[in-house]
Amino acid sequence: MQADRIRNEPVTAHYNPFSAETLADPSSAYDHLHQNEPVHLYKEYAPPFYTLSRYADVSSALTDSETYSSEFGQGPRFAPPSGMLSNPPQHTFFRGLVQQAFTPKAIRALGPRIEDLAEELLDDVANKEIFDIHDDFAFPLPVVIIAELLDVPKDDLHLFKRWSDSAVEAMGAEDPAPWVEDLRAMATYLLDQIGKRRLADNDNDDLITRLVRAETDGVGLQDDEILSVVNQLLVGGNETTTSLIANAVWRLLENPMLWRRIVEDPTLIDVAIEESLRFDPPVLGLFRTTTRNIELRGMTIPENSKVMLHYAAANRDPEIFRDPHVFSLDRPPQRHLSFGLGVHFCLGAELARLETRTALTTLLGRYPDLDLIDSGERIKPFFLWGRRTLPVRRRPEANR
Ligand code: HEM
Repeated sequence: MQADRIRNEPVTAHYNPFSAETLADPSSAYDHLHQNEPVHLYKEYAPPFYTLSRYADVSSALTDSETYSSEFGQGPRFAPPSGMLSNPPQHTFFRGLVQQAFTPKAIRALGPRIEDLAEELLDDVANKEIFDIHDDFAFPLPVVIIAELLDVPKDDLHLFKRWSDSAVEAMGAEDPAPWVEDLRAMATYLLDQIGKRRLADNDNDDLITRLVRAETDGVGLQDDEILSVVNQLLVGGNETTTSLIANAVWRLLENPMLWRRIVEDPTLIDVAIEESLRFDPPVLGLFRTTTRNIELRGMTIPENSKVMLHYAAANRDPEIFRDPHVFSLDRPPQRHLSFGLGVHFCLGAELARLETRTALTTLLGRYPDLDLIDSGERIKPFFLWGRRTLPVRRRPEANR
């Protein structure tokens, strides 16, 4: 059936980023994109957008911010520049300020807290035979850590979850109207936090306070600029890390031989994390806007077009990765694009890796006898990839 369908349809009709098949398994489209439509135009969206899927094209675009601009947002709709969602030199200024909180030393210092938190979360499910890797573990871990970095009340974590879900859904939607109220509430909440830091007379060291006090050549940040940066940290850093943890556990449990191998040899955890990032990138791709006409692989991408740089498809390019559709713990280190590349390379990459390494180490150590119940559900936004639920069962002791 599938082969007939592919043969009888014009190739240009085949790839649809919003089809049920692509949403359920984005990788089902990658071979087709690589071979038939390495520059794909999707016309059914307003505005229409292009997709680049070959590793060489995606990495060239990521390192050419003059041609592929970040000034009009990372999503498929046009948005005004703000904070780090911009090009150099504005981007360089903002990134320089935020980077101070993400130095290797600052990240290392978070290690013991992340370990304690992972243990606490697994204590909470100690009496359950069935629990959910997403709800009980992968979701709260990064949210609590970022809330502590920003020093916002833990009681408000459920609000962050709701708001960041709304923010990513709004980012991918043609019409963001259903989420506008939530986004307004998030902005009001964060502006209130920023206002409190401006009035506070103390030596607190949280991230919002640092941004409030930050100055470069005597120039500080306005409230709306700080808001943009904090937004990006909350929205860009939470669901993504949650997805990395859940996706890695999913693939390892899906193949019980892999799970057993890593339980017996936890030194493979870092390999598993990089392979999960390559195979199941939490961000499938982000958008740029072209600043001139581009000739690429026989197509012209006009100036001022939205282009999706498909990291996930690039990570399965057979020109770069051998057996790209195999999840393997024996793959030699190779550079995937899941944290981007170039000036916008993910600022939180080392934090995400540390959180995931700690999560996996603790989970394997505490509950080596886990079975996957099913693959749960996918998160909603089409440009993201992670499990919204991932139910697992602990094998009764008699069967261990
Ligand atoms: C597995 C988890 C994560 C993934 C897959 C991920 C992915 C990405 C990607 C693909 C970019 C590039 C954006 C672009 O090129 O337009 C990016 C940028 C960024 N990420 Fe992450 N991220 C993750 C975790 C985090 C965390 C934990 C934080 C912070 C708490 C964070 C903060 C940022 C920021 C601030 C940027 C913008 C950097 C810039 O524009 O210079 N990310 N991330």
